Amino acid sequence: MTDSSANLIRKQILDLVAAYYQQAHASRPFVPGQTRLQYAGRVYDERELVAAVEAVLDFWLTAGPRAEAFEQRLAEYIGLRHALAVNSGSSANLVALAALCSHRLERPLQPGDEVITPAVGFPTTVAPIVQNGLVPVFVDCRLGTYNLDPAQLEPALSDRTRALFFAHTLGNPVEMEPVMEFARTHGLYVIEDTCDALGSTYDDQMVGTFGDLATLSFYPAHHITTGEGGAVVTDDPLLARIARSVRDWGRDCWCNHDSPPEGACGRRFEWEIPGLDEPYDHRYLFVEIGYNLKLTDIQAAIGLAQLDKLPDFIAARKRNFARLYEGLKPYEEFLILPTWSERADPSWFAFPITVRPGAPFTRRDLTIWLERRNIETRLLFAGNIVRQPGYRHIEHRTVGDLPNSDLVLRSTFFVGVYPGLDDVHIAYVLEAFADFFGCAT
Ligand SMILES: Cc1ncc(COP(=O)(O)O)c(C=O)c1O
Repeated sequence: MTDSSANLIRKQILDLVAAYYQQAHASRPFVPGQTRLQYAGRVYDERELVAAVEAVLDFWLTAGPRAEAFEQRLAEYIGLRHALAVNSGSSANLVALAALCSHRLERPLQPGDEVITPAVGFPTTVAPIVQNGLVPVFVDCRLGTYNLDPAQLEPALSDRTRALFFAHTLGNPVEMEPVMEFARTHGLYVIEDTCDALGSTYDDQMVGTFGDLATLSFYPAHHITTGEGGAVVTDDPLLARIARSVRDWGRDCWCNHDSPPEGACGRRFEWEIPGLDEPYDHRYLFVEIGYNLKLTDIQAAIGLAQLDKLPDFIAARKRNFARLYEGLKPYEEFLILPTWSERADPSWFAFPITVRPGAPFTRRDLTIWLERRNIETRLLFAGNIVRQPGYRHIEHRTVGDLPNSDLVLRSTFFVGVYPGLDDVHIAYVLEAFADFFGCAT
């Protein structure tokens, strides 16, 4: 087959894929009560499908040219020098934390060192702390923001404290000034779990750019999706190199998809390594205890198409949030509505609500009411993680009794603001709340 006939077939396939999208995927009309209003989901059109099929036709499969382009665009968007694509936000958290344990750092985290982290959040923010032999020290959250309470940092401190690892909960930026001040004063590493907060800013600075490392998730619920997927971002070249190695089997080599046989370093076969007798092939030099957590090129192709839409996605999330906030204000007697720092501009992941203690109904009553009307609800992840069966028995410390985290466990949930929802959907959600309060109060 000639190149031109292959190109012709390729074009026909891609045109058909776009036509297929219109027939098979394009959105269906909203039927109140029958259409399920997801809290989040994939928002895509023929461009993602075409990009994915192009990547399949090229059949690179593993992380290749598209993964590298995706990393570059992510780094540019966040405003940092390095982005490493990985296969989930949880993997990103694992890579970021493991990187801080590297023997190549001057002051690596050591087994038994303590990491301050909020008790409210997603389990895989905490899991890597435990998996790396470190001790989580749980602090309480503030109700309304559901972020770590900066006033709890000082009481959490001990002579083993070495790092802070926290999420910007549901896209709501942590009060970064006191947190970074605390970290600087005590020489602590900071990892920002930015999985829910792509595009959020604090003092006009993108979250994810304050700490030593930050993480992103591209699971479909998040601001952009690659199906499964995530990234680690950092401005520090050494941390980037270590994180890359941790992601890529522990190897030292940083060759990319089109590196020449003599390697990106230009001297692949001439590395003099103490303890290895002769010049060594750098591709097979292992300097970290690594994993393989890379993204595929097909996922990256979808991510590149999604990045083009990110500004519109963020605007839609903010618009939906604002409409819900206005519409739910009349029920503040019974519901704690979200709050955020006046220095923050959140790129919301979702709309959190806490049923106030003493309300004449429970969270369960309200979420069942909404779900029966086909409005999806979700709990604020693990609630108070110390109470989850998988985490009850881990070595840890807490600051006080974590009363707010317990309230979150009992009484907080969220509804969606994702770009798949429009004004008609939000009006339907608000009507369901109005009916509930008409009956329940
Ligand atoms: C704050 C936070 N961190 C980490 C993760 C894990 O991301 P993933 O589902 O891509 O593993 C999530 C998932 O939603 C999350 O919300």
